[in-house]
This record gives sequence, structure tokens and C-alpha cells, in this order.
Amino acid sequence: MEKLDGCTTPAVGAGLDSEQQRPVDAQFLEDVLCGLAADSKYLHCKYLYDQRGSKLFDMICELDEYYPTRVERQLTSQFAGEIGRCIGPGVVLVEYGSGSSTKTRVLLDHLSTPNAYLPVDISEDHLLDAARALQTEYPELDICPVVADFSGEFDLPARYADDRRCIYFPGSTIGNLEPAEAVLLLERIAWQVGTSGGLLVGFDLQKSVDVLELAYNDEAGVTAEFNLNLLQRINRELDGNFDLDQFAHVAYYNTNEHRIEIYIESLTEQTAQVAGESIPFSAGERICTEYSHKYTLDGFAELADQAGWVRKQSWTDADQYFGLMYLSVE
Ligand code: AVJ
Repeated sequence: MEKLDGCTTPAVGAGLDSEQQRPVDAQFLEDVLCGLAADSKYLHCKYLYDQRGSKLFDMICELDEYYPTRVERQLTSQFAGEIGRCIGPGVVLVEYGSGSSTKTRVLLDHLSTPNAYLPVDISEDHLLDAARALQTEYPELDICPVVADFSGEFDLPARYADDRRCIYFPGSTIGNLEPAEAVLLLERIAWQVGTSGGLLVGFDLQKSVDVLELAYNDEAGVTAEFNLNLLQRINRELDGNFDLDQFAHVAYYNTNEHRIEIYIESLTEQTAQVAGESIPFSAGERICTEYSHKYTLDGFAELADQAGWVRKQSWTDADQYFGLMYLSVE
């Protein structure tokens, strides 16, 4: 499996904290202290995906209430032939936020002689496990995992510079960004693929508030566990002392902004410690941990157009729950 490990980049800011004898991610610490010192507290949603968080997210994807994964998977299988023809032969497929690469298999099966598959994910252990599993199923395919945070700039391995590139960005992850930020990311993707490059993107569609809110407030409480895991992660990695019983998961649809908003709410007035810093909370005060924007097909195409993309084809289900779109840079 040397091929798999050869092209990963090390995790950011992995200095060693001498007292605890375990690595402290300096960027994580800085972002947490900054977000929790703000007037409206927030934590970046990318930090939800440590190893436990990634596993919990995989569980969310299997929940009855959480339709996006199920519908996107179904769309991908149903239209795999058409999608494969859109993408074309000999492509380097780069997947943003690959996680467990479940939907990728269907896609790979319908691509004509792909040159390589580059899964990009921030969660290193999870990424490498998934890449190893995929390599055993696709022994002929050049698989090169890239540990990177695609919300910032990062380089693809230089040896693929001359290949035609298609970014695969499923899972409606782009919904985490506010529309203006999404345009900036789409611009960066356009720049990364270059002329004649492609983008296959999945995004969640606007629908009834009941369906939306249930998807983020599941009966079994997995989404709550996923959200609150962020406090546990801070306890584990940043010497925090959040009392998990004193916080609750809150998620609701903001109809004006067309987005689900997810928070961790403090149930009491309390003070938590993170890396020696005091973080005061009033009762009912919230930490914003995630936005999940919902689009229309035309609305999304318009957004992509602002970033220089041309809509080639789009696919949706009968209920119009979810959208897949193939775009290109001309
Ligand atoms: C991975 C961002 C697409 O917004 O639906 C699911 C994350 N958070 N349940 C989403 C999520 C809580 C998910 N995305």
C-alpha cells in the first residue's frame, strides 16, 4: 500500500504538547478559542469530523429521516451512465470531502478508463482507511489520497498536472457555505481544474420545513450525538471540561436564508474551561456549529454561473429532494 501513503500531506500544526504527550493541533485551538470568544459563539463545522465524528456522520447517512444520502445515492445509480458520459474518458477524478467514498464506487464503475482517483479529506485516518478499502476493490486504479482542507487552498499532486480533471463534490457539502462563500469556492475549483475541466456536484433542494427539520432532529439522537461530539473533541484534544449533560442539540430551518441552522445550546448559566481559558455561557446561549443551505436547481446554476461554470446537465428525483449537476469550464 505504499502508493496510498506516498502522496499524503501531514496534518496541519501537529506540534507536541510536552505535558500531555499528545499532539495539539494549534489551528484547532486557535479557532476554538476565537469562535468561543465571539459575541455570537461559533465553531467551524469542519471540526465535527474527527474520527468519532466521521463515524457518527456515516451513521447519520443511514438514518431513515436523513434523506440526502439515500436520494443522492439513488440518483447516482439511476443516472450513472449519463453522468459517466458527461464526465468522459481518461479523467482524473478528484473527490472533495470523500469520507467513506461510498457513492464513488457507482461512479467509478461508469467512468471510461479513469486515469486516477484522488480522494481529498480533512480526516486523515478515515481517509486512509477508506482509500485502502477502495484499492482492494479497484486494484488497477491509481488511488492517491490527499489529506487537505478543501475550504482553503491546497495543491493536487504535481504528477496529475497534465491530465483532464473532474471534481466530484457530492453530499451537499457545499451547502455548509453561505452563497457568497460558495461562489468563491466554485471559483477556486474552476481554477484548480482549468480549461475543459468538469464538476459533478450534489446539493440539497428546498422542500417542506417538516421534512428538513426531521432530517436534522432524528428520533435516535444520532445527529445530536454528532453535534455534541464537538464539545467532547475539545475536551479530549484541547484539555476542555465541557459537561455534556449541560448542553443540547438544536436544529431548525431558517426560511428567509433557506438553510438549516445547527447549534449547541447551553442549558444553564455556566463556565467551561478550554486550554486554561474560561468560556462563560448564559442559560440558553448557543454555539453555531453548522449551516446547511438548500437551493433550487436554477438557483444553484446561477451561483455556479457567477463562478464561471456552465451548466451541462442536472438530475433530480421525482420529489425534487436532491439535485446533481454536471458543469464545465469552457
Ligand atoms: C455533510 C454538510 C451535507 O448539511 O446535511 C448532517 C452535515 N449535519 N446532519 C448536511 C450534517 C447534520 C451535512 N453535510
